[in-house]
Amino acid sequence: MTSNGRARKSPLPLGEAARSAGEGGVRAEAFAFVRPPHPSPLPEGEGVVSRQPLLRVRDVDVAYGEVQVLWGVSLDVFAGEIVALVGANGAGKSTLLSTISGLLSPRSGAIEFAGHPIAGAPTQRMVELGIAHVPEGRRLFPAMSVRDQLLLGAFRRNDRQAVERDLQRVVEIFPRVKERLHNLAGHLSGGEQQMVAIARGVMARPKLLMIDELSLGLAPVVIEALMETIGRLNAEGMTILIVEQDVQAALERATRGYVLETGHIVLQGSAETLLRDERVRQAYLGV
Ligand SMILES: Nc1ncnc2c1ncn2[C@@H]1O[C@H](COP(=O)(O)OP(=O)(O)OP(=O)(O)O)[C@@H](O)[C@H]1O
Ligand SMILES: [Mg+2]
Repeated sequence: MTSNGRARKSPLPLGEAARSAGEGGVRAEAFAFVRPPHPSPLPEGEGVVSRQPLLRVRDVDVAYGEVQVLWGVSLDVFAGEIVALVGANGAGKSTLLSTISGLLSPRSGAIEFAGHPIAGAPTQRMVELGIAHVPEGRRLFPAMSVRDQLLLGAFRRNDRQAVERDLQRVVEIFPRVKERLHNLAGHLSGGEQQMVAIARGVMARPKLLMIDELSLGLAPVVIEALMETIGRLNAEGMTILIVEQDVQAALERATRGYVLETGHIVLQGSAETLLRDERVRQAYLGV
């Protein structure tokens, strides 16, 4: 189902998406945090330089008290990819992101980030390693200015001048945020708040940016702009794991995708394959 009923279009190659982004053009050097070879979603093979995923989730079980909601979940995110995690309400998508970012501890299973075992580690450790989590519902501080909110994203960094430069670059990517820098977050529109939430995540210079429900409650034109920005950040080298209700929009931008149903990964593959998959089309694209 396309929740917003917007016209469908054919997938853009990632680089293409970034190049055609147009307004507010992002300079190439802006976010060259990690410049991976190219996404390498294939299994390890001979002559391959880097087949280690940046994020590796293996057989993870997660429960709230007695109630288990994730069952043997495995997922990889390779440097340079946009990976879409899709699934119906209550499937466990937010639970998985919260487990990766350390808000929840898995009951069993392994999670590795850049080769470090991180399952059950405190959130602070995840932030230090380079994981940023933009949670569902944005969670901004309503009585704090947008500028302070963005600086909060970089609170672990003490290179003040570099942080200030990043702030300038981030607001170039999100021109609306620039106009609202001195407003209180609570006075922004939903779309603007989402931009601030993502921009705050970017300020941490993460290796992996995880965004939960990018488009929730936003107008199609705002979703389109945000998706374009995601494509640009990715083209600059940022690896992204995105949870999205608008399955079509997410898979159009993604390298690969996973479908989570009642706590189980039931389908995975290249975004292109998933977009063509009959089960995905019936369950999520309403065709
Ligand atoms: N704090 C909690 N305590 C107990 N159960 C919870 C808690 N948070 C989520 N759940 C349950 O865990 C399951 C998975 O929830 P989760 O929020 O991860 O799903 P989701 O895929 O993100 O759904 P949505 O698309 O609605 O955001 C649901 O059955 C939910 O009711
Ligand atoms: Mg959720």
